[in-house]
Amino acid sequence: MIPSPSPRLAVIVVAAGSGTRLQGGAPKAFVPLDGDSILRHSLRGVLAAPQAQVVLVVPEGFRDAARADAQAVSGDRGDAVRIVVGGRTRQESVAAGLSALDADIELVLVHDAARALTPVSVFERVIDALRGGAPAVIPAVPVVDTIKRVDENGVILAAVDRSELAAAQTPQGFRRDVLEAAVAAADADHTDDAALVAAAGHHVMTVAGHADSFKITTAPDLERARGLVAPRPLAAPRIGIGTDVHGFGGEGTLWLAGLEWHGEQALSGHSDGDAVAHAIVDALLSAAGLGDIGTHFGTDRPEFSGAHAEAFLSHTVGLIEAAGWRVGNVSVQVQANRPRFAARRVEAEQALSRALRGAPVSVSATTTDGLGFTGRTEGVAAFAIALVLPR
Ligand code: CTP
Ligand code: MG
Repeated sequence: MIPSPSPRLAVIVVAAGSGTRLQGGAPKAFVPLDGDSILRHSLRGVLAAPQAQVVLVVPEGFRDAARADAQAVSGDRGDAVRIVVGGRTRQESVAAGLSALDADIELVLVHDAARALTPVSVFERVIDALRGGAPAVIPAVPVVDTIKRVDENGVILAAVDRSELAAAQTPQGFRRDVLEAAVAAADADHTDDAALVAAAGHHVMTVAGHADSFKITTAPDLERARGLVAPRPLAAPRIGIGTDVHGFGGEGTLWLAGLEWHGEQALSGHSDGDAVAHAIVDALLSAAGLGDIGTHFGTDRPEFSGAHAEAFLSHTVGLIEAAGWRVGNVSVQVQANRPRFAARRVEAEQALSRALRGAPVSVSATTTDGLGFTGRTEGVAAFAIALVLPR
């Protein structure tokens, strides 16, 4: 048996209100959130959801503005959005939208343009319930405030049991025949379509709505929406510099750049005198704004006496990660007559990189034309630059 194609679905976006409570200087849907209007943001959510047809209901005189918004959001598909003029009430605007549906549409979602930030997941939940056979389904969220029934003077008449309450949102989904019959039979004005359909005697089910799907109604709502769409400042990477010098004259063999150099004279120092590793530690700590090597590895730390590069570097990575950073890369230059780095440069880079949990390390080496203490082979100098990135 050939499966029947799934019923075609349309979304009617009602955007024909004037926004009297918002007082935004334009009909509400055309008030800007950032560079984009409320309507543009709503259309993004609508067009991200699976649908066959979109009908946009706008105030008289705003067809062109709406067309521009539709095109800005959907590019080539902008022409596929049908635009009609709404009525005096929301219900009349919904009726205007219904009259513009293609003949073969069987399922209809009605969405408030004023819910500009409705996540696509809410559309999907409503659509899934409709496709699953529900004739009427709306997204709803639990009511968090304690609710009272009050008289016209604001005096409390009764408490209302919150557990029985839910706040209705949109998109509200219906079988087309159910919604059309309810609209045709309406003898009162309802603020949402579920009320209309319920008044016509249908059960309306709910699925989970979303806090971001709030309706922009007043100025504080607009501020909230603007805050949600405002670009978050990107945490910038940071660089740091470190240098170190050690003189020859230590005990045992030389340790430099994380490697042991047999037959080379050792450097002196509290630890192994690895000037390359110590310069990198200072560069990393300075990039992360965590002080310097003396702050964390002072001579009062016996566990680092005689320690090699691996211990210094891995402890430093731990410190900067705890402060919210990770190592981007490190570049270090050695100034020394001895040892000769050329043959072991890559090996040094790999050893240092391993100690920095895989962050790339570049090592270069130079002599100083016989000048200065390095030129006289009295010691080794190292200069490092490190980049750290927000984790
Ligand atoms: N709506 C509509 N046609 C109307 C009235 C409302 O299409 N005659 C739409 C609004 O554009 C909005 C949604 O219905 O997207 C929900 O209505 P509401 O938040 O009340 O918007 P406004 O009516 O524009 O605002 P206000 O009531 O403050 O004037
Ligand atoms: Mg209104």
